[in-house]
Amino acid sequence: MPASAPATPPPGAARSAAPTDLVVFGGTGDLAMRKLLPALLLCEKDGRLAPTTRIVAVSRDGIGDADYRGKAEAAVADNPSVLRAGAVPAPVLRRFLERLHHVPLDLDEPGDGWDRLRALLDAAPGGDAGRGRVYYLAMPPMLFGRICADLEANGLAGGESRVVLEKPLGRDLESAREINDAVGAVFSERRTFRIDHYLGKETVQNLLALRFANMFLEPVWNSRWIDHVQITAAETVGVGTRHGYYDRSGAMRDMVQNHLLQLLCLIAMEPPSSFDREAVRDEKVKVLQSLAPLAGEEALRHTARGQYSAGSQGGREVPGYTGEPGADGASSTETFVALEAAVANWRWAGVPFYLRTGKRMARRYSEIVVQFRGVPHPIFPGQGAAPSPNRLVIRLQPEETIRLHMLAKEPGAGELRLRPAPLELSLSDSFAVRSPDAYERLLMDVMNGDPTLFMRRDEVEAAWRWVDPVIGAWQGTDPEPYAPGGTGPQGAHDLLARSGRAWHEGEMTR
Ligand code: BG6
Repeated sequence: MPASAPATPPPGAARSAAPTDLVVFGGTGDLAMRKLLPALLLCEKDGRLAPTTRIVAVSRDGIGDADYRGKAEAAVADNPSVLRAGAVPAPVLRRFLERLHHVPLDLDEPGDGWDRLRALLDAAPGGDAGRGRVYYLAMPPMLFGRICADLEANGLAGGESRVVLEKPLGRDLESAREINDAVGAVFSERRTFRIDHYLGKETVQNLLALRFANMFLEPVWNSRWIDHVQITAAETVGVGTRHGYYDRSGAMRDMVQNHLLQLLCLIAMEPPSSFDREAVRDEKVKVLQSLAPLAGEEALRHTARGQYSAGSQGGREVPGYTGEPGADGASSTETFVALEAAVANWRWAGVPFYLRTGKRMARRYSEIVVQFRGVPHPIFPGQGAAPSPNRLVIRLQPEETIRLHMLAKEPGAGELRLRPAPLELSLSDSFAVRSPDAYERLLMDVMNGDPTLFMRRDEVEAAWRWVDPVIGAWQGTDPEPYAPGGTGPQGAHDLLARSGRAWHEGEMTR
C-alpha cells in the first residue's frame, strides 16, 4: 500500500446537499451544539449547503433567532472539529448564522409552538423545486414516536419529509420495536434515517473500499488465515454531564449495541452485489443474525464489564463514575465492556471477535485489528509461530491510517535478523484534503436522501436481539472497578489471556 494515491477528494467529500429545511428537535442540546452545528458550519465553509437551506432549531427555551444565533456562534467558536479545520472566514460564519432559526416548543405545553413551526416552514424561500425537509430528533428515544405523531397531527409529516433518529434506539428489543412501530406509523422505512455516526467516519468507509475494491484481501479474509479480530473504541473522557442519560444506558447500550457491532458487521460481511443502500445493509444484517447467542453463564464467561473509579489521569485528579455530577450514590452501570463474540458461519467459524470500549482510558483511539495466523513452519532465528507479526490495523481516530504489520529483514551483513516493519496508508498524507467529520458526511447524505450509511430497522433489532441476553446475564452483578488512565479492568485482559492472546495496546500506550 504505497502512499502514492492521486490527490483527489474522497468520495462524497465535495458533494453538495439539496436545498433543505433541517429541523432539529433538541436544537439547544448537547448533540446539536457539540456535533450538528459544527458539522453544518464546516459544510457551509466547503460550500456544500444549498443557498436557501435553513436550519430550524426546536427546543423548550423561550428564545428567538438572535439569541439562538448567539448561542450557536459561541458553541462553534471553540469546537475542536471547527478549530482543526482552520479559521472560518467572517462572511462564511455570517452566512451560516443567518440560516439559523429557533422555534420555542414545549411538547407537553405546545401553545402555538406547532403553528409557529408550520408558519416558518411554509415560508420557505421559493424557487426550489424539490426542496427537502428533514426532522432530526436529537432527543431521548422514548419521545421519538410522540414527536412523529405530533408532526403528523400538525400536518408536517407529509410529502418526502424525512426523519433522523439518534441512537441508542430504545433500551432493548421490545422498546426498539415499539419506537420503530410508532415512527413507522408516520414515516415509511424509506423516509427513516437511523444514525450511527461511526458509519460516517472516513476510515470506516475506507474499510469498505479496502475490502471490496482490492483483490488481495479477499482470499485471506476468513478463518483459515485470520486468527482473531479486535475492535476497540477507547475514550479518555468520563461521562461528564451526561450521567442522567448514561446511567440508564451503560457502555453496552451506548457503544456496543450500535457503533462496535456496526464495525464488526463491516469486517465480517460478505461482499454485497453492489454499493447499493439495500445490498450493503442486507449483508450487514446477515452478520448480526449470525452472531452466536451469548446468555447466562456463557455471557458472563465471555464478557468483562468495568466502572471507572476516582484517581489520577494525565496528572490530574478525576472523580469516579459515582462521583460525577448528577450521580447519587452507588450504581452498577458499566463504563467499560469487553466481550468475545463469534460469527457462526462458514467464513468465520472459530475466529473470535473481541470488542472493547471504555471511558477514562489512557488514550482516545478507535481501531480494528485483524490478527493473521502465524506461519506454519518458522525458519528464521528468533521467529516464533505465534503471535504472528501480521496484523492489519485500521485506525479510525485520532489518526486515519491503515497499517499492515509485517516482518522484514533488518539491514546489515551480519546474522539475518527480523524486524517488524509496517506498510502504512495514511489517509491524511495520501489525499491532500481534509477528511469530513462523520456528522458532515451523514447530514449531507440525509439531505440527499441516501440511507446507505444509516441503520435499517432489521439491523437495529437484530443487534438488540443479541445484546439483550448479555445485559440480562449481568443483572445482579457489579462491574469491576478500574483505575482511570489505564487499560481497563483486569477481567478484560483475562478474557483474552485464557486463549493465550492479548489486546493490541501498541499504539495506545506509546
Ligand atoms: C456516542 C456515545 O455515540 O459516541 C458517547 O453516546 C461517546 O458516549 C461517543 O462518547 C464517541 O464518539 P467518537 O466519535 O468520539 O468516538
